[in-house]
Amino acid sequence: MRTQVAIVGAGPAGLMLAHLLSLEGIESIVIESRTRAYVEQRVRAGVLEQGTADLLDATGVGARMRSEGLVHHGIRLRFGGGDHRIDFGALTSGRGIIVYGQQEIVQDLIAIRLSAGHPILFEVSDVRLRDIETPHPSVSFLLDGAAMTIECDVIAGCDGFHGVSRDSIPDGVLRAYEREYPFAWLGILASVAPSSEELIYCYHELGFALLSMRSPTVSRLYLQVPADERIGDWPDARIWEELQTRLAAGAWSLAEGPIIEKGISAMRSVVVEPMQFGRLFLSGDAAHIVPPTGAKGMNLAIRDVSILSDALTAFFRSGDATLLGAYSTSCLRRVWRAQHFSWWMTSMLHRFPDSDASQARLQLAQLAYTVDSRAASTSLAENYVGYEWTTT
Ligand code: FAD
Ligand code: DHB
Repeated sequence: MRTQVAIVGAGPAGLMLAHLLSLEGIESIVIESRTRAYVEQRVRAGVLEQGTADLLDATGVGARMRSEGLVHHGIRLRFGGGDHRIDFGALTSGRGIIVYGQQEIVQDLIAIRLSAGHPILFEVSDVRLRDIETPHPSVSFLLDGAAMTIECDVIAGCDGFHGVSRDSIPDGVLRAYEREYPFAWLGILASVAPSSEELIYCYHELGFALLSMRSPTVSRLYLQVPADERIGDWPDARIWEELQTRLAAGAWSLAEGPIIEKGISAMRSVVVEPMQFGRLFLSGDAAHIVPPTGAKGMNLAIRDVSILSDALTAFFRSGDATLLGAYSTSCLRRVWRAQHFSWWMTSMLHRFPDSDASQARLQLAQLAYTVDSRAASTSLAENYVGYEWTTT
C-alpha cells in the first residue's frame, strides 16, 4: 500500500488529522489496534474548548455537537461550604465551552471518513515504524494475520500515551518531562439528570470531587482517590456516599441514579520534546499528557493536528518544509500553557497525602482569591475556555 500520510491511532488526534488532510486533498491511511466498537464507546473526555468546537464546526463535523452538546458559559468552584461561579461569558468576551463526549466526536469523525470511502484499518497488531529518519518511511503491521506495509511520505504518531510511535525514536533524541501525582480519579457515568446546570469543581478535606455531565439525563462524576486504589473496593453505595459528603452545600442536593460505567485513571503529566524526528510527527497523548483537572488533553490533541495539517498542506503543495520544521515549537507553547494550568488547578483543588494544616489554608486562600479577584477569575476563565496567544 502507498499513501501520503500514514496515521497510527484512531483516537481524536488521528481521526481529526485524517479529516483535515482529506479536506486539503491529501491522502492518508489510518490504522488502529482496537475494534471500531471499542474506540466508539470508550468513555473519556467531555469538555471542548471554544476553539476546538469552532474547528469542528468550520470543518463540517460539528452538526451533532451543535444539536446535542451542552453550551456552558461558566463553572462553579465549591469550597469551605460556599459555592462560587466563574462567569466565562463576562470574563472572556462571551467565550465558553461545549460539553460533548469524546466518543461522540470519535463516532462523528469515523462516520464522515468511512462515508467518503477513505480507509481506517481496525484491529491491526505488531505495528512497526521503519526508516523514519529518511524521506521514505513505512509502517508495517498484521491485519487478520496477514503482513502488510504502508509506504508513505510522512508518519503521524497519534497512538496515545501507550502507543509505539514515541518509542520508535532512537534513544537520546527525546527529552521527557514527567510528574506523577500521588492520587487518581475514580470516574462514573450515571443515568440521572445532572444536579447542576454547570460543572462543579469541589475542594473538600476528604479530597477533590467534580460534577460534570454528558446530556440532560446522564451525569459524569469524579472523586479523588489514593493512587493505588482498586475499583472493586468502591461499590456504588460507597461512591454516592462519598460524593454526597464532598459535594454538599447548603440546601443543594445531589440526585443519585444507576451507575452505567466506572473506572480509575492515574494522574500524570508528561511532555516529550521535540515532537518530531525525521518524517515522524507525534500528536496528542503520544507526545504529552496532562492531569485531567483542566480538561485539556483532547483539546491539545485536536490543536496539534490542526497545526500539523497546515504544515503538511504547505509541504505537499509546494515542497516547503518550513512549517513542518516549526511544528514542535508551535505546539509546545500551547502544550506548556495547558500543562501549567492543569498543574495549577490540580494543586489548588486536591488534598496531597503529605500536606499539613498550613497547606490546606494556602489552598483555601488561593481559592478565595480566585473567585474574588476579577484578575484571578479572568486568568482561570481564559485558560479554561482555551488561551489564545496574542503574539506569535
Ligand atoms: P487516544 O485517545 O489515546 O487515541 C490513541 C489511539 O491509538 C487509541 O484508539 C489506541 O487504541 C490507538 N493505538 C495505541 N497503540 C496503537 C498501535 N500500536 N497501533 C495502532 N493504534 C494504536 N481531555 C479533554 O480535553 N477534556 C476532558 O474533559 C478530559 N477528560 C478526561 C477524563 C479522563 C477520565 C481521561 C482518562 C482523559 C480525559 N481527557 C480529557 C484526556 C483525553 O481523553 C485525551 O487527551 C485524548 O484521548 C487524547 O487523544 P489522542 O487521539 O491523542 O489519544
Ligand atoms: C470532565 C473531565 C475533566 O477532566 C474535567 O476537568 C471536566 C469534565 C468530564 O469528563 O466531563
